Amino acid sequence: MGFIERNTALERPTLIPEIALYLASEVTPLWQATEASLATNVMPPPFWAFAWVGGQSLARYLLDTPEQVAGRSVFDFGAGSGIVAIAAALAGATEVTAAEIDPYAAAAIHLNARRNGVDIAIYPGDPTRADPIAADVVTAGDICYEQPMTVRAMAWLRVAAGRGSLVLLGDPGRTYLPHTGLVEVARYSVPTTRELEDRDVREGIVYRVLPE
Ligand SMILES: C[S@@+](CC[C@H](N)C(=O)[O-])C[C@H]1O[C@@H](n2cnc3c(N)ncnc32)[C@H](O)[C@@H]1O
Repeated sequence: MGFIERNTALERPTLIPEIALYLASEVTPLWQATEASLATNVMPPPFWAFAWVGGQSLARYLLDTPEQVAGRSVFDFGAGSGIVAIAAALAGATEVTAAEIDPYAAAAIHLNARRNGVDIAIYPGDPTRADPIAADVVTAGDICYEQPMTVRAMAWLRVAAGRGSLVLLGDPGRTYLPHTGLVEVARYSVPTTRELEDRDVREGIVYRVLPE
């Protein structure tokens, strides 16, 4: 999609030099361009143009411990730029699907996957409206920022865990992160920007999500 290439630059997040992504260096200009492009003010924010702390930590974890996903199927919820899905594919996952409600994100995932030489299937829409997908591994990077979505998503992730999927969540301590039913498996200091996070470095924690 020309819009994405015109409004972003190809960058490698400091913590994940293995992956190149079309990212925005500043929030405001892209936000305005997104709204102008659709001539509407109800567009979702361009989450897909940033590598969020939760996604970066989870992507780093998959690249550092490829045995979690190598030879297995992976379903990434709320994929954004596709950073976690791409990391899973680079780590040797056999089949990777990225779920997104934002069609711009779906286009960005497609472009980013091609740039990194991997195949990612897109699940367009909200997978929590259906039964959890039968994937060996289910991932979610930085999804605990909005209450109704987090509640639905966490319930759905816990059902997936109960059905035998390894469920991994990357999060920097967002407001709606649950306090129970999570086991920390890794922690990273993630370089970020003050515009996005109000600080230069933030801790990103990777959790295994337990069944209900
Ligand atoms: C903060 S971004 C995180 C993106 C990426 N995982 C990362 O860590 O960089 C959250 C993403 O979840 C997507 N999202 C929110 N609700 C969703 C839902 N119900 N189904 C699928 N995607 C959803 C948003 O469109 C957004 O791209």
